[in-house]
Amino acid sequence: MRNLDPINYVSTAIHSSDVNRIFGATWQLLGAASRLTRRGDYIAAEIAGNKVFAVMTKDGIRAFRNVCRHRGARLLPEGSGRCTTIRCPYHQWVWREDGSLLNVPWWGDDPDFNKSDWSLDTVELCEWRGFLFIALAPEMPLADQLGALASEIESEPIERYQWVQEERLVFDANWKIYTDNFVEGYHIPGIHPAFHSAIEFEKFETTAHEGMVKMTAPPREGLFYRGKWLWMWPNWTLSLFDGGMNTSRINPINHHQTELIYNFYFEDVSEDNASKRAKVIADNLAVIREDFEVCVATQKNYESGGYRPGPLSPRHEAGVAYFQQKLRDAGGQ
Ligand code: FES
Ligand SMILES: [Fe+2]
Repeated sequence: MRNLDPINYVSTAIHSSDVNRIFGATWQLLGAASRLTRRGDYIAAEIAGNKVFAVMTKDGIRAFRNVCRHRGARLLPEGSGRCTTIRCPYHQWVWREDGSLLNVPWWGDDPDFNKSDWSLDTVELCEWRGFLFIALAPEMPLADQLGALASEIESEPIERYQWVQEERLVFDANWKIYTDNFVEGYHIPGIHPAFHSAIEFEKFETTAHEGMVKMTAPPREGLFYRGKWLWMWPNWTLSLFDGGMNTSRINPINHHQTELIYNFYFEDVSEDNASKRAKVIADNLAVIREDFEVCVATQKNYESGGYRPGPLSPRHEAGVAYFQQKLRDAGGQ
């Protein structure tokens, strides 16, 4: 197998096509449903530039485009919070929690204007094992997209892990460069020396099927990871560590900038355990950040025209080959 042609990581036209064909057509991890418990609690996020939010209403969680129907302003700031009504900051139009337009101030006489014509646009929402997923125009049911993950973590008590913290990390490389990096352990000796010495690298294994790349390695004494790292098509990850797990969503900001939205979950959320949790999170983030420099430099080499596609390791880069084949199957690469 050969690596993808670098044009796929640097072209704005291919990026636009990725946004439509992949990010517009798949379920995207929004976060823990437990973060929306009280009426008005919301999470606002971007899916490859498309602003969306989910809000708890008296009838359960609803999800909408975070786009004002008047002149297109953003309704709720990105992140999480609580609102009573949904008020556009621009000209103060107000919507109810069900998306219906409630109030249009200072409008003037207009016999053709009907508030009922200007409800918020909805997006699809689905909950799976405590995770909220949203989709703009999903091509398949969430369960089909999740593929092999459901049976892989069937016996893992993820509902017992409580959401503790979200972290957003931004770096200058295409989302596919970061994904290529995440789905192989080949770079662990070179890029993560401390992590390398904490696992039995000779026993590192990678398998890929049904929308999931699974990487495992027996941890040595003292490693916080539990030795299993999962990536799911098209752009999210789940890794197990002692007493909990993290998830991440790999979200493109544009064709050469990416954000990771990491969330950390723990079984023991007691005050006594706070410093231990903080250390696990800090150690996780340190390993994650070690990947950025090599991804940024690779992006520059792809942009320069100085790279021709090289070969992929049968022993260690099956996940890269799998991800890149999924990209080809989605069309456009
Ligand atoms: S753009 Fe939102 S009220 Fe005008
Ligand atoms: Fe890495």
